[in-house]
Amino acid sequence: MLLVASVAALGGLLFGYDTGVISGAILFITKDFSLSTRLQEFTISVVLLGCIAGSAVAGTIADAIGRRLTLFTAGIIFLAGALASAFTPDEPVLLAGRFIVGIGIGFSSVVAPLYISEVSPAAVRGALVSLYQFAITVGILGAYLIDYAFAHAGLWREMLGFAVVPSLVLIVGMIFMPESPRYLFKVGHDSRARDELQRITDDLDATSREENSIRESLKVKSAGFAAFKVPAVGLALFIGVSLAVLQQVTGINTVIYYGPQIFQMAGIASNSASILAQTLVGTVNMLMTLVAIFFVDRVGRKPLLYAGLAGMFIALTTIGGAFAQPHLSGSLGTIALSSMMLYVGCFAFSLGPIVWLLISEIFPLPARGLGMSLSTLANWVGNFLVSQFFLTMIDKLGRPLTFWLYAALCVVTIVFVRTMVPETKRELLEEIRVQVA
Ligand code: BGC
Repeated sequence: MLLVASVAALGGLLFGYDTGVISGAILFITKDFSLSTRLQEFTISVVLLGCIAGSAVAGTIADAIGRRLTLFTAGIIFLAGALASAFTPDEPVLLAGRFIVGIGIGFSSVVAPLYISEVSPAAVRGALVSLYQFAITVGILGAYLIDYAFAHAGLWREMLGFAVVPSLVLIVGMIFMPESPRYLFKVGHDSRARDELQRITDDLDATSREENSIRESLKVKSAGFAAFKVPAVGLALFIGVSLAVLQQVTGINTVIYYGPQIFQMAGIASNSASILAQTLVGTVNMLMTLVAIFFVDRVGRKPLLYAGLAGMFIALTTIGGAFAQPHLSGSLGTIALSSMMLYVGCFAFSLGPIVWLLISEIFPLPARGLGMSLSTLANWVGNFLVSQFFLTMIDKLGRPLTFWLYAALCVVTIVFVRTMVPETKRELLEEIRVQVA
């Protein structure tokens, strides 16, 4: 089980690496290709456009050719994109390469959590999907470190090209992984499905109980978008899309993508010190995800969300408050920096993993691929908008208001979780129902 989840989680590693790596590489690309500010921004954000495109179609593809083959394809796309970006002769090919990488991320951000969730026994499903988020954070931290290692010589091609290694592992790994039994039942390969199900459930009783509930849920034929006309399924879509957007509009990627700039606003002067501080952000992000892995199946999804969101709220309010002071120096600077760590740490055990987990859980099987695709698509659109307009917001609203706005959105998220989100701890996937509390 752990092996299967780990291989699928490689999709997360590539997601993290490929979104994080550009922050260090861009400095040198700008110099080599003499990029204007606008082209520089586009070189950073084009990957997110690829993610939007990839996630929009991934669910339909995963329903048509299977989860396993879609992840395998994602590996090939990652590989092609990484090679094109690393060996690019010029800026247009680089943009194309980064767009292709984005499609790979879009694919795997839909299918990796979906696949892990579908092959996991109910009692550890939360931990195994959180493993995917853990892989994202390892990828982000890895990207910061690789950037740091190659920075002295300005080797941006090596930075981008390094993604070839995990791509190859994903491709080779997926050849040997089993297909999701839920997908196999869906396409009528019943005996293979039963074999796979037996491998992942403890005993025959559990297998037949799960088989029955899967069959029951398949009685509703998958009808594409029409599936969402059923009120409960429409509600699941509303919850999935909202959670995905809330994960982004509470500001996480301002810190993940613009960390060094924020550190400089908080008084860290040198480039290398702020890049080092960013490595610390990456480490906190990674380590705190372990908290989710350990607790998500024990205490449940919602308590972790409340605790994390409360911490994020306190941290963001404090950061805004520190920036509201006329001079941010000495202890105020330290308070701002430790609040940023608190913010990232709290995200890492709550909104980070649990949003991916919940959107892989709340849809009934016939609508799962499409529902996840649409929620993930919304996540990438939210990501694109926040990261695209962060600097503009700082400019127009000012630093305190920008961070207070993210803090207010944490409160909105708490209320949303309280009223709309079901607790899914230890439930069989097919027995999860959404309803207004
Ligand atoms: C989010 C990403 C974010 C990452 C940070 C993920 O769950 O979807 O947008 O960069 O967490 O660890």
